[in-house]
Amino acid sequence: MNAHLIGIGSAVPEAVLTNADLEKIVDTNSEWIETRAGIKERHKSGDDEWVSDLAIKASQRAIENAKISPGELDLVICATVTGDTTMPSIASVVQYYVKAKNAAAYDLGAACPGFIYGMVTADAFIRSRMFRKILVIGAETTTKVVDYTDRSTCVLFGDGAGAVVISASNDDRGIISSHMGGDGSLGNLLYLPGMRGRVPVTLEKDPIPFYVKMAGNDVFKHAVKAMADSAAKVLDLAGCTIGDVKYLIPHQANIRIIDATARRAGFPMEKVLVNIERYGNTSSATIPLAMDEAVRDGRIQKGDLLLAVSFGSGFSWGAILFGWG
Ligand code: ACO
Repeated sequence: MNAHLIGIGSAVPEAVLTNADLEKIVDTNSEWIETRAGIKERHKSGDDEWVSDLAIKASQRAIENAKISPGELDLVICATVTGDTTMPSIASVVQYYVKAKNAAAYDLGAACPGFIYGMVTADAFIRSRMFRKILVIGAETTTKVVDYTDRSTCVLFGDGAGAVVISASNDDRGIISSHMGGDGSLGNLLYLPGMRGRVPVTLEKDPIPFYVKMAGNDVFKHAVKAMADSAAKVLDLAGCTIGDVKYLIPHQANIRIIDATARRAGFPMEKVLVNIERYGNTSSATIPLAMDEAVRDGRIQKGDLLLAVSFGSGFSWGAILFGWG
């Protein structure tokens, strides 16, 4: 039994925050943001707009695109680190609103690679024959957890959600291979304090709670190596080559990380999906957002082989090789 992607959808808040808007909020300039990160604008949720709202919209679109009834879903997994509630899970809120009344639901917290981890989990459930149809979501409102007085982080992030429906199938062009890795000893290089204020034990207590803290240069170096290695691993596991892959879909954190990862992994840039200039870093949502755009505009066609790769807090990273449709 293989796990097949049969539907996709995404959603972003309507409001757009441009680099010029940021210049009015914090000591930065458009040119710096564009050349150092490749970002021109990002979508920003309003005060009364939450990650569950985006997750619900993306999920409804994915279910419609998959042409299934929501009652057929066995499980809803929502990858998020910016849930508007810790309990109930955002997946439970989605389950209720999309009317997936026969589905179990839970959230998955793995920061940026969360969506890939959700796909890997769905693949394992389907291969074990425990479930047949699973909704996997990556959804974040990262703009609610960045400090708009800290120019080294606030210019990078944006909000959005993407979802896929994964179904059991006998066709062998579904999810082919995957890899996940982690190094918890580096947790202090990129973190978001929890509800009760505890931070990694090696760090001083954070004077501003609930905001992302990041050692950008360290993240950069580790991200490139881990993503390139992970991409090579899934190709190797599948006995495939770069030539077999239509698109590399890297986590959209910084255009220079994307460039360096593609170069190190041996992918020419024309084989790399990039939309960071319009969305910024939406954490677990970057991959389904980029994929949904490319499916809708016809760059991704049924049967295309795709390789998604991501890296983030933990550190955690992973890659997955799969056919579309
Ligand atoms: N506007 C203007 N100047 C700025 C800004 C800003 N927004 N932010 C930093 N600077 C300044 C710094 O103060 C510094 O000034 P100085 O030389 O006078 O001290 C100068 O720019 C260079 O700073 P660096 O940190 O060395 O800049 P760098 O080229 O490394 O870019 C960046 C920083 C964009 C954060 C980069 O390191 C990066 O992208 N790292 C990866 C982190 C990331 O993407 N994290 C997202 C979450 S993790 C993930 O998704 C993988």
